[in-house]
Amino acid sequence: MYSDFKIISTYYDTLYVNDREYGAEAGRVKDLLTRHGAPPRADLLVLACGTGGHIPYFRDEYTVSGLDLSEDMLDLARKKFPEVGFHLGDMINFELETDFDAVVCLYGSIGFVKTVENLRAAMNRIASHLRPGGLALITPWSTAEDFRDLIVVDAADRPDLKIARMEHVRLKEPNMVEVTFHHLLGNNNDVTYHKQSMEIGLFSREEYAAAMIDAGLNVVEVYTGKDVRGGAYIGKRVAGQVRKQ
Ligand SMILES: C[S@@+](CC[C@H](N)C(=O)[O-])C[C@H]1O[C@@H](n2cnc3c(N)ncnc32)[C@H](O)[C@@H]1O
Repeated sequence: MYSDFKIISTYYDTLYVNDREYGAEAGRVKDLLTRHGAPPRADLLVLACGTGGHIPYFRDEYTVSGLDLSEDMLDLARKKFPEVGFHLGDMINFELETDFDAVVCLYGSIGFVKTVENLRAAMNRIASHLRPGGLALITPWSTAEDFRDLIVVDAADRPDLKIARMEHVRLKEPNMVEVTFHHLLGNNNDVTYHKQSMEIGLFSREEYAAAMIDAGLNVVEVYTGKDVRGGAYIGKRVAGQVRKQ
């Protein structure tokens, strides 16, 4: 069973999910989808939805479904949004019965597929779940061209849980970033330390665009505004071009 988010899921919302970033990001994503023709009350699939941080902002306009590989993250999402349909699955080989007007994958989660081959497989699965004219909106987190090593520092201060966060983001191999999380957690009159490393694939602009095009999607916009973390590749399914695999 996939367990990369087992521990982090227990404090993911406190540390990462906030109205300022998630609200602004989801708002812009809705604008972009509308601009490129998403219908009112569109059926939206949120890929790698995690704990569902974006879902409150999508529910007003769309019929939302979510998919994630982590049981731990999905359990939290299900508790928060019992009326939403969540699926346990892998971006690179998922097969759902429904097709969608739009599929989004946010906060750089696509990088968890790790390899270009898997990126292309994921894009194929996305395209084959889109109705003709349907939209894919994928945030790359960072592209190979834009990537720089960095150390992130941040904190969360809630009455019941305090977190000091440092994350070391470094190039491990030409196409692979390693993120090492150092989290100090203060609760129940105790302070504990959690350290964990994860690998995230780093793909070039050309690799993102080619993966979309080869999956049967026209790249209709590459959005670079800072309100969508990592920007966004937006592809539109050409009528009749994608065969269900
Ligand atoms: C950094 S979290 C982002 C979650 C959410 N998109 C957000 O913005 O809060 C990355 C998510 O990707 C999920 N994930 C990783 N690999 C995946 C895969 N191959 N297929 C589906 N989900 C995956 C993880 O379980 C985790 O929930």
